[in-house]
Amino acid sequence: MEFTRVARSGQVPEGIVRRFFAGEHEFAVARLNGKAYATTNYCTHLDCLLSSGKLVDDGIGCSCHGSVFDLETGEPVCPPATVAIKTYPVEERDGEIFVGIDPNDTGSVPRRRAVRESTK
Ligand code: FES
Repeated sequence: MEFTRVARSGQVPEGIVRRFFAGEHEFAVARLNGKAYATTNYCTHLDCLLSSGKLVDDGIGCSCHGSVFDLETGEPVCPPATVAIKTYPVEERDGEIFVGIDPNDTGSVPRRRAVRESTK
């Protein structure tokens, strides 16, 4: 697991989710109750950008159809999504946010797009 800097802490204030990139990876980085979280940026329902959503008490809400995902586990806590989003470990130090990426993780291609491309 390698930790890669993705943002300054000040870029992700309380209650905000924003999109950041590290190489081939695209993340939604959020701060809820003071803690920073990183997830894939793609909703498992129909691939909408989670960075366009809003944080709610239960986690991160998708702006397209209202799915909510737990920021710790990625599990859907509100439909229509039924599949968990990928979550990443986060370290915050010296005013910077670092995301842990498995070297074997090739990137965050949206799940439905990946399925479509694998069937061509
Ligand atoms: S694409 Fe996110 S809830 Fe439908």
